[in-house]
Amino acid sequence: MAETLWWQKGVIYQIYPRSFKDSNGDGIGDIKGIIDKLDYLSWLGIDAIWLSPINVSPMYDFGYDISDYYNIDPGYGTLEDFDELIEKAHSYKIKIIMDLVINHTSHLHKWFNESRSSRDNNKRNWYIWRDPVKGKAPNNWRSAFGGSAWEWDPKTEQYYLHSFLKEQPDLNWRNPDMRQSIYKMMRFWLDRGVSGFRLDVVNWFVKDEKFRNNPFTLKPLDPEKHKYSRNRPEIHEYIKELRKVIDEYDERMTVGEVFSLPPGDPELSASFLGDGNNELHLAFDFSIMYRLWSAKQFYNYIKKWYKAIPENGWSCHVLSNHDQPRGRSRFMGGIDSEKRARLAAVFLLTVKGTPFLYYGEELGMKNTQISRRKIVDPLGKKYWPIYRGRDSARTPMLWNSREYGGFTKGRPWLPVDSGYKRLNVRYQMNDRYSILNLYRELIALRKKFKALNEGELIPKINGFNNIIAYFRQYEDEMFFVVLNFSSKEKKINAGERAQWKVMLSTHRTNREYLTSLSMNLAPYEATVIMKICEFK
Ligand code: GLC
Ligand code: CA
Repeated sequence: MAETLWWQKGVIYQIYPRSFKDSNGDGIGDIKGIIDKLDYLSWLGIDAIWLSPINVSPMYDFGYDISDYYNIDPGYGTLEDFDELIEKAHSYKIKIIMDLVINHTSHLHKWFNESRSSRDNNKRNWYIWRDPVKGKAPNNWRSAFGGSAWEWDPKTEQYYLHSFLKEQPDLNWRNPDMRQSIYKMMRFWLDRGVSGFRLDVVNWFVKDEKFRNNPFTLKPLDPEKHKYSRNRPEIHEYIKELRKVIDEYDERMTVGEVFSLPPGDPELSASFLGDGNNELHLAFDFSIMYRLWSAKQFYNYIKKWYKAIPENGWSCHVLSNHDQPRGRSRFMGGIDSEKRARLAAVFLLTVKGTPFLYYGEELGMKNTQISRRKIVDPLGKKYWPIYRGRDSARTPMLWNSREYGGFTKGRPWLPVDSGYKRLNVRYQMNDRYSILNLYRELIALRKKFKALNEGELIPKINGFNNIIAYFRQYEDEMFFVVLNFSSKEKKINAGERAQWKVMLSTHRTNREYLTSLSMNLAPYEATVIMKICEFK
């Protein structure tokens, strides 16, 4: 068996740089702010940071529209700041992963300026240009952000494709020169010491060669809707090519955002892992973000996800990111919402597969209510009030109980959550029983025992009676995890007579010993137990 690598064993923490920590009072988080908080991240115990985009951007989509891949946006700092971040992070044994936004660039990128300048410019085919059909857009493809995916460019009298905003023209992945330029840029950052990349909307890079119309369907969540504009099989050829660039370096990784509509599509996500060695290292499956609070639904998620993973592949799990409502809000539960968030944390950090945390999740942050006037996300502006956009899950990190939660000395770019008086790092660090300390203990436990990071997962209770339970095993090391998703007390009779010890629990002390796995569970109890010895 191959050696288990850092990105399999470790815990990865996503930072949305605009909202993490502002160092100069302009209300926008920045790289120096992240450097200031490395001691916190090291205390928490994470292994790597995934930074949402920090490259130069006009910010139509807050960094997911890059106009210069080779530099840092001045709002976030300089290349020197970035080098310092890498160096200091490494001194804490924390790795840095960048966001690679290469389905599209900003419309202000110099490549696009050249491309749109004339039909025979040598970068014309780096983007996707088409003639009108009967005086209209070339086909019926829709932008993910609403409206036609085609924008008319009067200068050269053709349409260009944009799967997102019109300020985000799609690159043409069928063009080998374009691809080589992307690989060159990747090497630039790998040489600087980044440990890998998160690939933005990786399943959208390649489009149908014939630009066929997407099937017409009335079902709003029908995957057929995007048949020809996403998930084209040719993508895998290019991902294999890209993987070779990563493999020129030691110990680097990639994780793909494989975007699918509810209920999620584990087979699609897993297909980006290739044979487990020749495409991406990890891929997100968003099924869990579309599930309701139910042990059965969570269990079915892991079952399907593990089944889809190729033999040499590895899974990963994520409860929240910058595009979805925060986990704690999604799980609902009213006054029980914190209990649910705690149980979800135990789940995330004890199942097999690399856990990704989203900043603030470790505090139990919820979605922030934002008035229409303060919405800045283009999606929220467009669809309010049917959809209020993504700002609510992107509000500033809460550091202490001072004004603006200690995020900035100026005026924050998005409102600060009103819960900041108690829901903040300083307060929760000092509270042994806080959700923050639960996360920290879970991360430490996961790191300490191989069974909990690389060990096999053996299911025991499959969601029946609103309970999930599983063993994690590595050689002689054996753990048992039990999660009561219900607001009621429950009883389990899982047998296994032996000497067991509670290692971590939302309800029990670590001094408790058990002689079998027959237990009474408190409402929302999540407990991690280790086998100490067999009975003779
Ligand atoms: C991804 C990003 C999202 C962005 C979109 C377009 O889904 O996560 O924030 O708006 O791609 O780049
Ligand atoms: Ca700043």
